Amino acid sequence: MSLKPEDFFKNVISHCKEYGYIFQSSEIYDGLSAVYDYGQNGAELKKNIREYWWKAMVQLHENIVGIDASIFMHPTTWKASGHVDAFNDPLIDNKDSKKRYRADVLIEDHVAKIEDKINKEVEKAKKRFENFDEAMFRSTNARVVEYQNKINDINTRFKTAMNASDLDAVKQLILDCEIVCPISGTRNWTDVRQFNLMFATQLGSVSDESSTIYLRPETAQGIFVNYSNVQKTGRMKIPFGIAQTGKAFRNEIVARQFIFRMREFEQMEMQFFVKPGTEMEWYEYWKKARLNWHLSLGLGETHYRYHDHIKLAHYANAACDIEFEFPFGFKELEGIHSRTDFDLKQHEEFSGKKLQYFDNEENRSYVPYVVETSVGLDRLFLSIMSSAYKEETLEGGETRSVLSLPPALAPIKAGVFPLIKRDGLPELAEQIVNALKLDHMVIYDEKDAVGKRYRRQDAIGTPYCITVDHQSLEDQTVTLRERDSMQQERVKIADLNRILDEKVSLKSLLKTLI
Ligand code: GAP
Repeated sequence: MSLKPEDFFKNVISHCKEYGYIFQSSEIYDGLSAVYDYGQNGAELKKNIREYWWKAMVQLHENIVGIDASIFMHPTTWKASGHVDAFNDPLIDNKDSKKRYRADVLIEDHVAKIEDKINKEVEKAKKRFENFDEAMFRSTNARVVEYQNKINDINTRFKTAMNASDLDAVKQLILDCEIVCPISGTRNWTDVRQFNLMFATQLGSVSDESSTIYLRPETAQGIFVNYSNVQKTGRMKIPFGIAQTGKAFRNEIVARQFIFRMREFEQMEMQFFVKPGTEMEWYEYWKKARLNWHLSLGLGETHYRYHDHIKLAHYANAACDIEFEFPFGFKELEGIHSRTDFDLKQHEEFSGKKLQYFDNEENRSYVPYVVETSVGLDRLFLSIMSSAYKEETLEGGETRSVLSLPPALAPIKAGVFPLIKRDGLPELAEQIVNALKLDHMVIYDEKDAVGKRYRRQDAIGTPYCITVDHQSLEDQTVTLRERDSMQQERVKIADLNRILDEKVSLKSLLKTLI
């Protein structure tokens, strides 16, 4: 029987905890909301994902280099970028439950409930009529049309209110929609206020306004402020890119869905600097290249889709999300943004320094345009984890939990087991571990029956198990068991390193990109 998506997601979360992937931060103190720690297996998986992204960006592209900028930046950075004035979410409190919500999320959830009603009507009609024409039904069924009009009206009112920064109108919309607090069930709301998502702290020992600095809410600005340093010292010729991975911090009002929306998270961003006028070409290029990168993980093509932004941020002339089908539906995984010359121009203005490029071919200087690719490492981790996790019932009724992780990303590549703990089998297994561990992450395990050891490795996603038995002592061969098919074959010990290289190294994944 297949599980409801919410129950499946709960199982993914418990699996992450039980097998050392993800723990709630400061759990012994009852945890810190929307902050998570990666355990022994999670840290390995995360490192492998980061490395795959880095190599795909920096190692495979001659014109992309990587940097590692600080989390703290000069406070003027955030004035220039617009984050001090405009990196806000509208929040509202319920006076009875004392719970705080994002006003836009309350409205979105309300709209989603109306959409559910439409979908139910459509499903009912599908069962009733043969040759069902969905488009026709949606445009003619009175109830569906009424629901759709309601949605359009809410969306228009919300957009108009936000564009005019009219927070009273946002509150009125919440009241008119009769939205209640999910905890108290009442409509006793405060006014809507804007809430800046940046975390502020003080630099040095004197605490005044001039020493207020922020934890970066995106890594991108560390790239923009280093544009000239990198371009000049790296003698970079346009088009070229600067990549970076690192922590970002946002004081999210509604942080939910496990590691999907966190207050401390990691981004992997690349800013690609291009000649003005060529940005749309590069935007299309990176849209395709990034989707291909995701597809190379083998999680399934149908789990991805593009979502083009209709309403663009003031600095963008094109933007889209690569969405992934998480257990709670399609949601943004990565953003591709054509940011024009907005950021560099702002930093020119606020710093008084020129951030230009001298184009030899055109014999003129200009501020380059930028196409950005920006993906959350934690979200990527969640996309991989939630597609990999399976509960299987085997022949004979036995069940197993298995993580079908992309082999090259798995924390441990092979478990090496002596069939029994005597007759020289442990010693030979240890020798194999020592020979493999210079190139691959392998572990030795001799505890419990071999079947139980296989299950333990299945549950943490180890793609191969190598078992040393008595025949190994005679002919220097071992059994090699593959995680997903559970098929076993006999291979020479001398071939193990090469086999693992072919099947589980990052190189095997990178090859699919070129
Ligand atoms: N520099 C552009 C930028 O930061 P964004 O859409 O705000 O754009 C980019 O963020 C990516 O960062 C998102 O697609 C998502 O994967 C990730 N991300 C953003 N906020 C996050 C959060 N609170 N928790 C986890 N990941 C987040």
